[in-house]
Amino acid sequence: MVNVAVLGYGTVGSGVYEVLTQNKEVISKRVGDEVNVKYVLDLREFPGDPVESVLVHDFDIILNDPEVDIVAEAMGGLNPAYKFAKATLEAGKNYCTSNKELVAKYGPELIALAEKMNKNFLFEASVGGGIPIIRPLNESLTGDNITEISGILNGTTNFILTKMDKEGSSFDDVLKEAQALGYAEKDPTADVEGYDACRKIAILSSLAYGSHVDFEDIYTEGITKITDVDFKYTKKMNKSIKLFGKSKNVNGKIYAMVAPFMIDDEHPLFSVNGVKNGILCKGPVIDDIMFYGSGAGKLPTASAVVADVIEEARYLNSHIKMVWEPEKIEIADIKTDENKYFVRVEGNADAKLAEVKAAFGEVEVVTVDDVTDEFAFITNVMAHEKYEEAAAKVSGIKQRIRMA
Ligand code: HSE
Repeated sequence: MVNVAVLGYGTVGSGVYEVLTQNKEVISKRVGDEVNVKYVLDLREFPGDPVESVLVHDFDIILNDPEVDIVAEAMGGLNPAYKFAKATLEAGKNYCTSNKELVAKYGPELIALAEKMNKNFLFEASVGGGIPIIRPLNESLTGDNITEISGILNGTTNFILTKMDKEGSSFDDVLKEAQALGYAEKDPTADVEGYDACRKIAILSSLAYGSHVDFEDIYTEGITKITDVDFKYTKKMNKSIKLFGKSKNVNGKIYAMVAPFMIDDEHPLFSVNGVKNGILCKGPVIDDIMFYGSGAGKLPTASAVVADVIEEARYLNSHIKMVWEPEKIEIADIKTDENKYFVRVEGNADAKLAEVKAAFGEVEVVTVDDVTDEFAFITNVMAHEKYEEAAAKVSGIKQRIRMA
């Protein structure tokens, strides 16, 4: 029998418990041995919930039980997750997690520790919710040198942007809905300011390029400045706005960023709506490959954690090689990153165009019938620093969004 302990009985942890118990028969068959949930750790009580029979409040009970083979964590945050992960691996047990903060910060250290102990530290659920993306990067795409990743990596912000786009909903109302559905982080600032997507693109980039991409080096913009007026323009242009986590290798320089991007209806990620995530990878061998699915929520995220439990149950005493070296990759300065920009300016296009052209050169002007006292323009491809220089010469700029 393979014994599992689940850490945390919140949205994801309760989903993991539900899937492991309800699908016990098929999971055990796929492992070739009975997979049993021996403990669930949470500080709270859950009177009347079936979890009561296995609920414990003290992590040491799990750590010191030689029958526990796999610890599946769904608590989030660094403390005490880092301590628990280290102690679990040092005790010769396997660890899997949905905790992107933990993986982004301590991934290389915990992978190395797992390798030393001949155990596994797996984290499929840390990026893209239920989408298999970590295992494909570590196994299926390893013959290629990935050159670019563009991902809609946060379900909450994609849910908000989609509702603003399609239903004209207000930012605050949709955020509340996303929280009620269990998509958002405890502190939703991490979602809307892009910090969550930042950790996720750091994890994907580290695995794709093989060395550590430090999330603290990644330029990050969230979606709090996106307004209903921006969507009036996108509607006219058959475009939409998505929060991208993006990294690319440009002649050996690695760029990484999180920012809202305006994309047109032919972009492969255009139809990734609501809580869905989509991840587009490019490489000279594979060309384009895209992954799509539910990026947040109880059961989709639990599906990825349970897949890791099954993998670890199959390889209980054998380390699955994962290359994420601790040496930091130097991230190229965002100032040199090149994009087209969509820019909104106060005033009348006829009166202001000369000022805009003097700063930006030729631009494409966009106006929308029911938006008065302002207009928009689209620049040519320009480096971020050149954009800043030009923008400083034009008065009344209210918005700028990169275009992909
Ligand atoms: N808050 C995260 C999201 C949860 O909305 O994508 C999944 O990581």
